[in-house]
Amino acid sequence: MGVEIRVEGLTKRFGSQVIWNDVSLTLPAGEISVMLGPSGTGKSVFLKTLVGLLKPDAGAIWIQDRDLTQMRERDLYEVRKLFGVLFQDGALFGSMNLYDNVAFPLREHTKKSESDIRKIVLEKMDLVGLTGAESKLPGEISGGMRKRAGLARALVLDPEILLIDEPDSGLDPVRTSYINQLFIDLNAQIDATFLIVTHDINSTRTVPDNIGLLYHRHLAMFGPREMLLSSEEPVVRQFLNAQTIGPIGMSEEKDADELASEEGQELPPLPPIPLQLSTSDGTPRRGERPAGDWCRANGITPPPGSFQSQNAGVPGVRHSEPTPTAEAPVA
Ligand SMILES: Nc1ncnc2c1ncn2[C@@H]1O[C@H](COP(=O)(O)OP(=O)(O)OP(=O)(O)O)[C@@H](O)[C@H]1O
Ligand SMILES: [Mg+2]
Repeated sequence: MGVEIRVEGLTKRFGSQVIWNDVSLTLPAGEISVMLGPSGTGKSVFLKTLVGLLKPDAGAIWIQDRDLTQMRERDLYEVRKLFGVLFQDGALFGSMNLYDNVAFPLREHTKKSESDIRKIVLEKMDLVGLTGAESKLPGEISGGMRKRAGLARALVLDPEILLIDEPDSGLDPVRTSYINQLFIDLNAQIDATFLIVTHDINSTRTVPDNIGLLYHRHLAMFGPREMLLSSEEPVVRQFLNAQTIGPIGMSEEKDADELASEEGQELPPLPPIPLQLSTSDGTPRRGERPAGDWCRANGITPPPGSFQSQNAGVPGVRHSEPTPTAEAPVA
C-alpha cells in the first residue's frame, strides 16, 4: 500500500542560490503525480530532497507521521527502504552487468537467497522488457535501455513510493507509450505512490492523477490533472500546452519588453482534456476518478471536445471512460 507524503514549506538553497522556496504539497497515497518545470527549476533536486539525499534549508517532509528532514542517518537508512528511485542519469554501476545492478538493492537491504533474488530480478527485467540483456554492461546498451534497467532496479524492493526522474528522456515515442502504460499497470499492481518528473506533455496529459509545476523558484500549482489541464493561469496554461506566448521565455522568465510585445496576441483555445490512460486489463486504480469528475465538482466547463475517446478502436489503448450522468454532458 503506497503511503502519503506531505511536504510543508520546503525551501532549498545552494549557497546564495534559492532553488525553490516554500513548497507545500501532498502526494496522495497510491496516486500518480507528475512534476513539471522548465529545465533547471529544481525538479531533480526536489526528488533527491524527498528521499533524504539532500537536506532542505527549511520545511518538513512527513511520511508515516515522521518528519524525514529531522531524522538521523540511521533512521533515514530505514525510511529509504520505502522508496524506489530512478535517477535522471539511471545511476547504474558501470562495472556491473544489468543483472547485478538490478540485484544490488536486494543484496544490500535483504537477506534473500540468491535463488529468490534471481526470481525477482528476472521478473522485474521482464516487466521492463530487458529479458536477455542480463549480462550486458551499462556502457554496452542504449540510453533507453539504461533507463529501463534503472526502473527495474527501482522496483525490486516493492517500494511504497516510486520517484522517477525523466523516464522518457531518450525513449522513442512507441517506448514512451509502453512505459506510460507500464506505469499505469504497475500502479494498479503495487499500489505505490508515484512521483514522475517528465518533460513529455502528452504523458503529462494522459497518465497522472495529479500534476505539479515548479517555476521561478516556487511551486506554481499542484492539484488534480483536470484542474491543471483546464487552468487559465498563464504559466500553467503555457507550459501544459507547450506554447511560446506566456511568461516563460527561452531562458527562464521573459522581460517586460518581451511580454509587452505579446500584448493583444490572442492565445489559442485550450485543447480538449484527454481521457486518462487506464490499466490494460481494466483493473481499477486507487487514484482513478471518473472522467470529468473534478470539473463537475468544481463547476468548471472543460474545453470543448474533452473526455472523448479519440483512441476508440485502436488496439491496445484503453482509457477510462467518462461516467454517464443525468446532468449536462461534460463537454
Ligand atoms: N549538488 C548541487 N550543488 C549545487 N547546485 C546544484 C546541485 N544540484 C543541483 N544544483 C543546481 O540546482 C538547480 C536545479 O537543478 P536540477 O537538476 O534539480 O534541475 P531540473 O529541474 O531537474 O532540470 P532538468 O529538467 O534539466 O533535469 C540547477 O541550477 C543546478 O545547477
Ligand atoms: Mg532534472
